Amino acid sequence: MLSLSKTDKNAIVLEPSAGEGVFIELLKRKGCARIDGYEIDPELAAQHECVKCASFIGAEIATRYDLVIGNPPYVRWKNLGARFKDELAANALWNKYFNSLCDYSYIFMLKSVEALKDGGELIFICPEYWTNTTNAQSLRDYFCEHGYFSDFYIFNESSIFKGATVSTVVFRFVKSQDPVKPTMHVAKFSRKANLSGDVLKRLLEHTPVDGVEYMELSQFRKEERWVFAPKVEQDALERLMAACVVDVFDGGLFRRKKMCTVHDVCEIANGMVSGLDRAFQIPDNIDLTPDEKRDSILVYKAKDLTRYWALRPTRYVYVPENVTHESDFKRIYPHFHALMQPNKDALMARYSYGKELPYWQWCFKRSEKLFSGKGKRIFVPCKERISAKSYVRFALADEGFYPTQDVTGIFKKAGVRESIEYILAYLNHPLIFKWIRNYGIVKGNIVEFSEKPLSSIPFRKIKWDSRRETELHDKIAKLTAAMIVERKMANAATINSYLGELMA
Ligand SMILES: C[S@@+](CC[C@H](N)C(=O)[O-])C[C@H]1O[C@@H](n2cnc3c(N)ncnc32)[C@H](O)[C@@H]1O
Repeated sequence: MLSLSKTDKNAIVLEPSAGEGVFIELLKRKGCARIDGYEIDPELAAQHECVKCASFIGAEIATRYDLVIGNPPYVRWKNLGARFKDELAANALWNKYFNSLCDYSYIFMLKSVEALKDGGELIFICPEYWTNTTNAQSLRDYFCEHGYFSDFYIFNESSIFKGATVSTVVFRFVKSQDPVKPTMHVAKFSRKANLSGDVLKRLLEHTPVDGVEYMELSQFRKEERWVFAPKVEQDALERLMAACVVDVFDGGLFRRKKMCTVHDVCEIANGMVSGLDRAFQIPDNIDLTPDEKRDSILVYKAKDLTRYWALRPTRYVYVPENVTHESDFKRIYPHFHALMQPNKDALMARYSYGKELPYWQWCFKRSEKLFSGKGKRIFVPCKERISAKSYVRFALADEGFYPTQDVTGIFKKAGVRESIEYILAYLNHPLIFKWIRNYGIVKGNIVEFSEKPLSSIPFRKIKWDSRRETELHDKIAKLTAAMIVERKMANAATINSYLGELMA
């Protein structure tokens, strides 16, 4: 981090959260004569003469610094002690930019930039989340308005701090009012990596490192999403989003443009909660009575999903809610009754959302109406780890198949003309994966597929008055259906090239 700095030993330097003084030691070794530090822990603060035992948040900072360097504390507001909350509540910068959804580190970043001279540098190591969470929008906009980033290192869950599993970034920001801004160097790990001195040296030199992509990006703009992707990828995503724009008519008089999203064509719902899956699962070797067959469902869990199709379903006990007495349960469903006995205690101890819950009932049959409805559906794991693969598993399931909690279901809305196979092929396209990686909810290497992030995926509707587009749709749907029957990915390349034509 220190070698990212362009300052020399005459620089005036600030370490706003000095801790044990790792940066201070290094700065001294470099020969820096003027260092100011802040630290609230008296024991730590006493270790270095240049460190004041005071809060950086409340401190009156009259000096303007050449360099602010450090590792700010990061704590969610709700986890802060009363003393810290009180200090923030009285702080003008906090009140101007932040609120109780924000993180303590945000004010350290913002106040540090305030304390810089024009041309001064901020070099911080911190978690990655502020670069994309909604609650850090004002911080990102502040950065955009007050200078530019020259370097961004994205370590993607690589272990840096013992015991912490956050995704870490190191950045160098230069305070500047110049409207002409240089590009920034970005080094991004595609997955968790082992960091060694040699790797760090290579990162600084921008020489190849396994799993690291180097990019030269334009500065981010206010109110826009910060996308750390190469220019060609960003351009392809821009084209995709432009291709998804449709005209909407408000009351038949006014026309406006909007980007069509998955929300416009699909209902999305997270799977149902049994409360103890293993107790509800019925082994294949049990001969069920007709009542039991009728009152059981076939379920796909996240582990059963692959790209395009699902593997083997599991049968689950699914007794109607009007069976409320154990004697009835035992009489009508003898095999279910026997099957559930070993787990009875655990079932009774389930959290039941405030309801009286017989042990043979599911905890929460949310969206049951949607799941029991007609038509094929698309299932996707609601959390997907993407470190080892460059796709997400959207799988087609037939009518009558249900998702449990670890799966999100996607159902075509009434009146949508695009086929479910087209929607499936579209969601599995590599460009959609890139969109999800850059614009979706990604924490470290885990993509989240709850209703909201899935809804916001841009959707390329077919222009049905175009013969070519109609033809493309039909071909894509047919090839996808055939591929699912054969359970071979043979057609994927052709399907993706047809989709590519629609997405450009
Ligand atoms: C992540 S550690 C920094 C470690 C440090 N860079 C080092 O070299 O050891 C954050 C430090 O910030 C301190 N801290 C927390 N709130 C503070 C505040 N309001 N003002 C100054 N320091 C603070 C903590 O006590 C902790 O030592």
